[in-house]
Amino acid sequence: MRESATGLAAALALILAPLALASCPDYSAYSQQRHTPLSSGRYALSWQRPAPACRTFNSSLVEAAITHITAAIADPDLARLFENSYPNTLDTAVRWRGRAADNNEELAFIITGDIDAMWLRDSANQLLSYLPLLGSNPSSSSSNSSDDDLASLYRGVINLQARYVLTAPFCNSFQAPRESGIAAATNSAAASDVVVPPYDAAAVFECKYELDSLAAFLQLSAAYLSATGDGGFFARAASQWAAAARAALATARAMRDAPTYGDGDGHVVKSPYTFTRQTTRATETLANDGAGSPVGNGTGLVRSAFRPSDDSTLFQLLVPANMMFARGLAGAAGVADAAGDGALAAEMRDFAAELGAAVEQHGVVRVPVLRGTGTGGTEMVYAYEVDGFGSAAIMDDANIPSLLAAPLLGYVNATDALYRRTRARTLAPPAAGGNPYFMQGPVLSAVGGPHVGPGMAWPMALIVQIMTSDDDAEITAALGQILRSTDGLGLIHESVNTFNASQWTRQWFSWANGLFGQMILDLHSRKPGILKTSFQ
Ligand SMILES: *[C@@H]1O[C@H](CO)[C@@H](O)[C@H](O)[C@H]1NC(C)=O
Ligand SMILES: *[C@@H]1O[C@H](CO)[C@@H](O)[C@H](O)[C@H]1NC(C)=O
Ligand SMILES: *[C@@H]1O[C@H](CO)[C@@H](O)[C@H](O)[C@H]1NC(C)=O
Ligand SMILES: *[C@@H]1O[C@H](CO)[C@@H](O)[C@H](O)[C@H]1NC(C)=O
Ligand SMILES: *[C@@H]1O[C@H](CO)[C@@H](O)[C@H](O)[C@H]1NC(C)=O
Repeated sequence: MRESATGLAAALALILAPLALASCPDYSAYSQQRHTPLSSGRYALSWQRPAPACRTFNSSLVEAAITHITAAIADPDLARLFENSYPNTLDTAVRWRGRAADNNEELAFIITGDIDAMWLRDSANQLLSYLPLLGSNPSSSSSNSSDDDLASLYRGVINLQARYVLTAPFCNSFQAPRESGIAAATNSAAASDVVVPPYDAAAVFECKYELDSLAAFLQLSAAYLSATGDGGFFARAASQWAAAARAALATARAMRDAPTYGDGDGHVVKSPYTFTRQTTRATETLANDGAGSPVGNGTGLVRSAFRPSDDSTLFQLLVPANMMFARGLAGAAGVADAAGDGALAAEMRDFAAELGAAVEQHGVVRVPVLRGTGTGGTEMVYAYEVDGFGSAAIMDDANIPSLLAAPLLGYVNATDALYRRTRARTLAPPAAGGNPYFMQGPVLSAVGGPHVGPGMAWPMALIVQIMTSDDDAEITAALGQILRSTDGLGLIHESVNTFNASQWTRQWFSWANGLFGQMILDLHSRKPGILKTSFQ
């Protein structure tokens, strides 16, 4: 009797296991199709949340926020887009959680969405979209965490990022931790990469050196501390945080002080980081045998070989990344204090102050005023990139950190006059002598960038435009453009053809979805009247 019952259970388990798997569809495929119930608005937006049993993390705080905020939104399409997008990282991207083999600390592996690897920048931003809720998280500690616990997820990501930064501080994207048993993802694009310093492909998915990746680790750490007050987490003996922060600092210093190209007297000095790839796209490799274009020494700015789009920089002194790193250092100095490391805190504060001064001295340039403004003459704006020899790229790219997002980075007040001039240029079309990457059309008009190409505008840039605006008409117009650019799918795409909403890239881009939700939470507290608008 007993035996046959066990046998029956085993047989059932065999049948049920594949069934359970089959009932959780691959989200890459799922998110390219529309699912009922459709929203009742003119865009009939798809439902896109996985069934509860298929969600990768449950948070009662996030569910409560969805219920509460959705009730405050009048437009059925806007409500649906929010319901789908805000929980997207928790629903789909928490690939693995567990404990570190060496020190038993929490770890969380967060994928970007359709790419099965963890980016330092994306994972930080994916979690930061839940920051407004983290403060109301019930107190927990790394020795007492429940499954339904945003703070635990933050700690898991901070611990894993610390490990990544210690393993390969020049790299941007990483494989699942060995404790997960998940096999390393294949990155065929990186097969021909030659990178100095070399890295271990079992740990690293891609090794593009981007200053904002290091800044993201500092920013996330500071955000966790300020929301939870949990300084004890960083002070734990097992914590690798201070060591990782020191590695980030050392990397940034090396990329501030070492020459790019040579010292001009025939004595060749190697850059601490070089990268080449066999590719037909100039933005996927670096000039000068992997060193990048030469940079003038002594500006105090830190080089970045690649942008937050993962495209190479034209001039390595990438201004928004330096703004973000300066803010990250200032915030993380408080974390170093909490960790009981006063020397590290002092180093961070000094570096932050020097970097802020360097941005203002070398990152601000004089340019002709926008055409059609009738005034003529020149004006001062932030450059996107400079080289320290007088050359500058006057443009903006949709990815964060951008010039448009400078107030969101905490670097500058959105009312600041220099920022306002820079913002106006970022949002002005090429024909006006504005931003060469501002893309216009009947579907949407927004900042794009070279990563996907001409004619493609990025909804992420519209979200940033809303979050940096106090103008109700501008905010409402941008919301309307986002609503009509999802192709009925009800998720935020990476980029959309400005003339055809059916042509878009990346159906499963978790960061942009979380950012959209964060923006709705921001409007809910800042401009609740706008959420009462009808877009029908
Ligand atoms: C989330 O909750 C559902 C039940 O509503 C459950 O089936 C699922 O396993 C939970 N997911 C996780 C990661 O715990
Ligand atoms: C663990 O945290 C919960 C709140 O999340 C709290 O209610 C409980 O008392 C804590 N347990 C211990 C042993 O600290
Ligand atoms: C670059 O400038 C820094 C700071 O001014 C200095 O310490 C460093 O030696 C310089 N490097 C070269 C190669 O001139
Ligand atoms: C920005 O400046 C305005 C005044 O111009 C002030 O009212 C506001 O509080 C400032 N915002 C921040 C975030 O500092
Ligand atoms: C828009 O793009 C879709 C998908 O590529 C295509 O089928 C359709 O013909 C395009 N519409 C127009 C008006 O070009």
